[in-house]
Amino acid sequence: MRIALSADHAGYTLKDELVGWLRDQGYEVTDLGTNGPESVDYPEFGRKLAQVVASGQADRGVAVCGTGIGISIAINRESKCRCARVDEPLAAALAREHNNANVLALGARLIGTEMAKVCVAAFLDTPFGAGRHVPRVAMLSPQRQDSD
Ligand code: RB5
Repeated sequence: MRIALSADHAGYTLKDELVGWLRDQGYEVTDLGTNGPESVDYPEFGRKLAQVVASGQADRGVAVCGTGIGISIAINRESKCRCARVDEPLAAALAREHNNANVLALGARLIGTEMAKVCVAAFLDTPFGAGRHVPRVAMLSPQRQDSD
């Protein structure tokens, strides 16, 4: 599975931790930055990640900002992205099972590293439930013919 990650200045240390952790597990990881503490704009880094996921260059995305809120809003502007901002792993799993989420957003100022990792693991390991969820997910992007 190819995973792209991005973050703003408030999220890059958690993002960097997740990049190394995912690479250690054998995932193909694309790090879209930012890579330092200089202030940057979360809409820009959300858009970068959204474009990589929407184009199919990555199968999943993980985005981090201070709260996870701003960057999740930015990513959900892209109709092919279904970004779920979560604090705990049940929400991450249900975002996959019910919503076929393809991007996870985390708030680095609100969540610890270990909790972030179990959220990402749940996001990567949980399959879409399909069935009754398929038409609902399709309704999220009515201009598109498929639900993926
Ligand atoms: C940056 O200070 C902060 O506003 C940003 O990381 C994020 O929390 C926005 O939603």
